[in-house]
Amino acid sequence: MAGVLTEKIKDLKQQFRLSASQIIDIATKFESEMVAGLASHGSLKMLRTFMQKPGGKETGTFITIDFGGTNIRLQLVNLLGKGRYEIIRQQSFLLKHPYGAYDYTSQEAAAEDLFDFIAVQIGELAEQGQTYPLGLTFSFPCRQLEANRAVLISWTKEFKTSGVEGQEITGLLEKALAKRGLSQVIPAAIINDTTGTLLAASYGNPHADIGSICGTGHNTCYLEPMEPATRVPMMINMESGNFNKFPLTTYDQALDRASEKPGEQLLEKAVSGRYIGEVARLILQDMTQARLLFQANPPGFVANINSITAGDLAQILADDTQDLTRISHLLKTNGNILILTTEELKALKTIASLVATRSARLVAATYIGILRHIDPGLTQQHVIGVDGSLFEKMPGYRTMVQEVLQEIYQDKADRISLVLTKDGSGVGAAIAAATCAGRR
Ligand code: BGC
Repeated sequence: MAGVLTEKIKDLKQQFRLSASQIIDIATKFESEMVAGLASHGSLKMLRTFMQKPGGKETGTFITIDFGGTNIRLQLVNLLGKGRYEIIRQQSFLLKHPYGAYDYTSQEAAAEDLFDFIAVQIGELAEQGQTYPLGLTFSFPCRQLEANRAVLISWTKEFKTSGVEGQEITGLLEKALAKRGLSQVIPAAIINDTTGTLLAASYGNPHADIGSICGTGHNTCYLEPMEPATRVPMMINMESGNFNKFPLTTYDQALDRASEKPGEQLLEKAVSGRYIGEVARLILQDMTQARLLFQANPPGFVANINSITAGDLAQILADDTQDLTRISHLLKTNGNILILTTEELKALKTIASLVATRSARLVAATYIGILRHIDPGLTQQHVIGVDGSLFEKMPGYRTMVQEVLQEIYQDKADRISLVLTKDGSGVGAAIAAATCAGRR
């Protein structure tokens, strides 16, 4: 039995490990897709943002909305210039009630319900008689018409709200604000969260030219030295979660088939927090069916879609006890599994590690693709601002991304800094609003 389990783990390692030469191959393909995307073909949408690097002199008070997942965050942000800011007030609310009382992300909810709900919350933050420029971070693929007008191309991250795809988002919000008598709140900019992260990273650091999210979703934005239509430098939201030129395992294929939008967002489905727990669950399901794990009593959760989260993987990876007692405890409390052999516990940790490591290495490969495009000889300093729960909380994630940069660039790797950029969606949106409201 132990032998068969060892063989299976070996096979999984083969499927999930990415060698340095595979990384280079993926980076090369990524770079070609960038070039193709700028010419409007291929898997990368390469969306214009109308944003350039901030000058650092943007100041003022702004309302910002961070709309990128089921938890929406509103902030009142005061920009003080040169990278300094303060968050005066903030509040969060859920689009999906934990016990099912409402769900504004479901197909049954209409655009109007969703934006009315958001406007009510804005009403609680805005003071009467005061005018607020608003920066909206809307973290889904949008075709930007101008700095404060953007059309949702398609939902991602399993959102399904009706009547939003194909619509101009700021207009929907303005209508809802007007209904509540909130015309003193004026949408000045709409940006993607990756753009917000890049704006926030470059507010205080002139070397920042890449902004990325490794959280529930995944995507990256960079400063294109020459945007083809305008022929000036412009931040480009790549929608890199849709990249698809990398090796897929049978588990990725199964996950994709069962998803809301099969064939789309394949990179995001292999790397992001919304999906990697499910990749691990599909592996466990396969191993349970082959009677390699949980033989005595297969637990119910193994058969239940989305029953493992990225947070569970983080807990598994954080267990560095010799007997993996924390993993045992987790399984006892969450899965009612009382007995597991040391081999089985080790196998669980290996699975979590393979999935998380592949995520970090794939993400790093895309960063290398971008760096090759903007600075082929890596002669400059680059700051990559990254936000998101995976980057911040998955044990070892950031180090693994860094290691790939080291493997590929060797002694030049110190020209690249990976910087955790918190609050990109709030501060970045305020900077965008300041730029557009002409407060430079
Ligand atoms: C969206 C991107 C977003 C990313 C991170 C993806 O699902 O398509 O627009 O930047 O999630 O939030």
